[in-house]
Amino acid sequence: MHHFEQADLLKRLPEQFFAKLVQKVQKLANEGHDIINLGQGNPDLPTPEHIVEELRVASIDPQNHKYSPFRGQPFLKEAIAAFYKREYDVDVDPQTEVAVLFGAKTGLVEISQCLLNAGDLALVPDPGYPDYMSGIAMANADIALMPLKAEHDFLPDYSAIPTNELDRAKLMFLNYPNNPTAGIATKTFFDETIALANKHQICVVHDFAYGAIGFDGEKPQSFLQSEGAKDIGIEMYTLSKTYNMAGWRVGFAVGNKSVIESINLIQDHLYVSLFSGIQHAAAKALLGDQQSVGELVQTYQARRDKFIQRLYDIGWQVEAPKGTFFAWLPVPEGYTSEEFADLLLEKAHVVVAPGNGFGESGEGYVRLGLLDHEDRLVEAAERIGSLGIF
Ligand SMILES: Cc1ncc(COP(=O)(O)O)c(C=O)c1O
Repeated sequence: MHHFEQADLLKRLPEQFFAKLVQKVQKLANEGHDIINLGQGNPDLPTPEHIVEELRVASIDPQNHKYSPFRGQPFLKEAIAAFYKREYDVDVDPQTEVAVLFGAKTGLVEISQCLLNAGDLALVPDPGYPDYMSGIAMANADIALMPLKAEHDFLPDYSAIPTNELDRAKLMFLNYPNNPTAGIATKTFFDETIALANKHQICVVHDFAYGAIGFDGEKPQSFLQSEGAKDIGIEMYTLSKTYNMAGWRVGFAVGNKSVIESINLIQDHLYVSLFSGIQHAAAKALLGDQQSVGELVQTYQARRDKFIQRLYDIGWQVEAPKGTFFAWLPVPEGYTSEEFADLLLEKAHVVVAPGNGFGESGEGYVRLGLLDHEDRLVEAAERIGSLGIF
């Protein structure tokens, strides 16, 4: 068999850090161990019934069996605009300021190809969601990391970025509530971001994947709620977390017209839009009963409270996350992130994600997902406690 060489584009792609971890977990699971997997970010609860029902009905309609319009169904884009108005009191024009995405992941990878030429610079949070890097690598562009530190509330310290980098940068990725640190952003921070981006002509891409998940009654801030945001950037949203629809692949970008046009243009060449049945269900999710969203946030908050309390009891004294379904926890002294994650896996059969997998500033932390039942989270804490480390 002939071996066909990969194109340079594929060779540039960053290594999938967590692939190794998945293998180790699989090996232990195959040996029959009872593994508690808190290492991933896959919502564990089902999509609300009324959304599933909408798909069931829409899937029968032959109208939906045809190609959908290239740039998404107008009714979905109108639903997205209505959602932003209702949730954030932000006006977006459904025709020109909304792009439908195959999940936020696709948009976050495409955006670099839309805006960056080879050798251009993008500012990326460290630690951060790995897919930003994938898109930048495909565009053959350069990366400048913005460290997210606890002492700076896991927000980038703009004053620490050298002026020449700011002048060179064309794109900046931000993500709040943040994966993996669970940090949250304030309106003041977004206002400052807009001022900086205007000064240096940087397009801001705010990844709002965890937009719905804020605790203790705090609703996370949308980037578009800040004055001038649409002039200098976009926000990407996904139905994956808000409505437990990770498998459905529905996301969207809203904001700056020129950027939205670029996303739509690249997608004209890559795809026809999502199955129209799914677009109907997505519109139902955005416009229908929102009770499930409140209940989901309450569920994550209750899990957080139980879990963090239990960690306290075993002597791992950590701060409770204010948003997302992750806990970003400092590892005890004497361990690297990977050593500690390996220890928990091998001795407690608890899977956590080592923080350095999200970037070098993630060293010294592990990320745990609150994505299992309360009693399993409590058991994970107890298994960790029985190692006697704390
Ligand atoms: C920060 C962040 N952005 C984007 C995504 C991708 O979301 P989607 O399912 O819409 O592709 C995730 C999913 O884990 C995420 O954690």
